[in-house]
Amino acid sequence: MSFETVTIAGGTGKVGHFIAEAFLEDGSYRIKILRRKSNEEDSNEMARSLASKGAEIVYVDYYKKDDLVKALQGTDVLISALNMDFVGGASYYDVQTPLLNAAKDASVKRFIPSEFGVKMKYRANPLTDNKKLFRDSVEKSGLEYTYIYFGVLQEEIFLCGFDIEKKKATFFGDGSKKIPTTSFSDFGKYIVESLRMPEARNSEITVAGANMSPFEYLEIFEKVTGSKWEVVVNRKVVDVIFLDRFMAAVAQEAEFEKLDNDKFSFAPRPVSEVIEELVNQVSG
Ligand SMILES: NC(=O)c1ccc[n+]([C@@H]2O[C@H](COP(=O)([O-])OP(=O)(O)OC[C@H]3O[C@@H](n4cnc5c(N)ncnc54)[C@H](OP(=O)(O)O)[C@@H]3O)[C@@H](O)[C@H]2O)c1
Repeated sequence: MSFETVTIAGGTGKVGHFIAEAFLEDGSYRIKILRRKSNEEDSNEMARSLASKGAEIVYVDYYKKDDLVKALQGTDVLISALNMDFVGGASYYDVQTPLLNAAKDASVKRFIPSEFGVKMKYRANPLTDNKKLFRDSVEKSGLEYTYIYFGVLQEEIFLCGFDIEKKKATFFGDGSKKIPTTSFSDFGKYIVESLRMPEARNSEITVAGANMSPFEYLEIFEKVTGSKWEVVVNRKVVDVIFLDRFMAAVAQEAEFEKLDNDKFSFAPRPVSEVIEELVNQVSG
């Protein structure tokens, strides 16, 4: 199936804008970015930058179906890069369901839901369970779909327990289970190429720039900083910090048995380069 128009909901967001940039760089598709109407009046620099590179910015009320269906007319591939509402409590399922319903009415051909992270066992964490609930709806919808997993963002690998300033690593598990990671310079390119891969239809794509244990990432940090780091393993989850629970699940429950990297035309950016950049940022 050939696609002409790709619409990215949340395309100005942290992950979404890298996806949008990769599509604009590729240049093969007409790109539309959906934004919430409440943000219409602000001067979002990212929206302006994407528009200057050729994206059409479309403002919608996600809770007005007619509005949303109209905005999606002519879309071949809809990529949801929406985030859950951490303040208001709307889950990944709640936030994306209006989009999926409108996509069906607008005859969108393929839906790529807001996964873009770590594939985890069911019941490992409420966030990923919620994404699974939404995937079930996508499959029932009859639309074509692709799920894309690329692990933890390498530019945020410090969330896996690496404190560059203190040269201290604290791991939730014993440091032996692999954690997949990908640089933000690569994951958009994987999504672009997936549209040309017949095997991505109604399937999942699992890629990683690196798939190593925390101790292996630590070796790179030690090499780059030129010093031995203090290491603490089996760090306890601090209940009040929601992110801790998620990162503990990532460290212990990531399920990346097979990688699809060899189906793509490019080699990912080496993780050592990203770690070097992170270390340089901290040491100023
Ligand atoms: N692998 C990783 O390490 C990693 C890291 C971060 C995120 N992620 C995943 O990437 C996806 C996107 O996350 P993100 O951090 O990029 O999100 P984000 O920047 O917080 O939000 C993305 C965009 O979605 C729109 N949005 C936010 N809340 C919304 C809501 N309640 N209803 C409708 N639209 C809303 C906003 O666009 P407008 O304001 O323009 O409407 C926002 O810019 C999620 O699935 C997340 O789990 C993965």
